[in-house]
Amino acid sequence: MGLDQQTFAAVDAFIGETIVPEDEQLRAALEAAGRAGLPPIQVSPPQGKLLQLLARLQGARTMLEFGTLGGYSTILLARALPEDGRLITLEANAEYAEVARDSIERAGLAERVEVRVGPALEALPGLEEEGAGPFDLVFIDADKVNTPNYFAWALDHSRPGSLVIADNVVRDGSLAETSSDDSATVAQRALHEALAADPRVSATTIQTVGSKGYDGFTIALVIDG
Ligand code: SAH
Ligand code: DHB
Ligand code: MG
Repeated sequence: MGLDQQTFAAVDAFIGETIVPEDEQLRAALEAAGRAGLPPIQVSPPQGKLLQLLARLQGARTMLEFGTLGGYSTILLARALPEDGRLITLEANAEYAEVARDSIERAGLAERVEVRVGPALEALPGLEEEGAGPFDLVFIDADKVNTPNYFAWALDHSRPGSLVIADNVVRDGSLAETSSDDSATVAQRALHEALAADPRVSATTIQTVGSKGYDGFTIALVIDG
């Protein structure tokens, strides 16, 4: 065993066989996504479980997600909600959103989850107008160039104690490249600079390996909303 992708995937498989078993509804969601031709880029089972544990620790009652895909992370997060809790998830692709709605419904979470179709940046003024938020937990996992924009909006619609999490910030280690010409990487570096300068948050980034390769999450706690 060594530091290679095969090992990372094998360890994720072992974690899945032991402490993160997949249940029928999650399996059905992945199968529906596969049948509909959605790309298999959802969080891995151990990553999804981390999101769910954070949501539970948080006691989150209101959540916002950027990037629904087939609803895999949505289902995991929504399961951490109390009966009267609410999750809004934003998805640009109408076909993906339809697949997600079906899977969310099948998982018994339709009452708690709303899937909104359209580019997330265009959905935000509507949320603002409705007086949505403050959100207890925000998961940012849509178009990576806009992660800093979504993060900024999330912080403006949070309260002290809110948690904001972004996926895909490490990007095979390119986060460390000072003169990257990849716009998604430039955006993650800008996110880190913005968080460093923001007195409202206490944040960290955790690098991850596993079935999805080498990447990572940024996790920020709002300490003074
Ligand atoms: N959170 C999901 C994976 C999301 S993949 C999970 O872990 O299960 C990224 C998703 O963001 C894709 O479904 C893609 O269609 C969507 N997306 C891309 N650009 C977007 C935008 N501008 N606004 C909203 N969603 C967007
Ligand atoms: C992609 C998006 C993701 O959210 C992810 O975790 C991995 C890959 C992508 O758009 O390729
Ligand atoms: Mg992701």
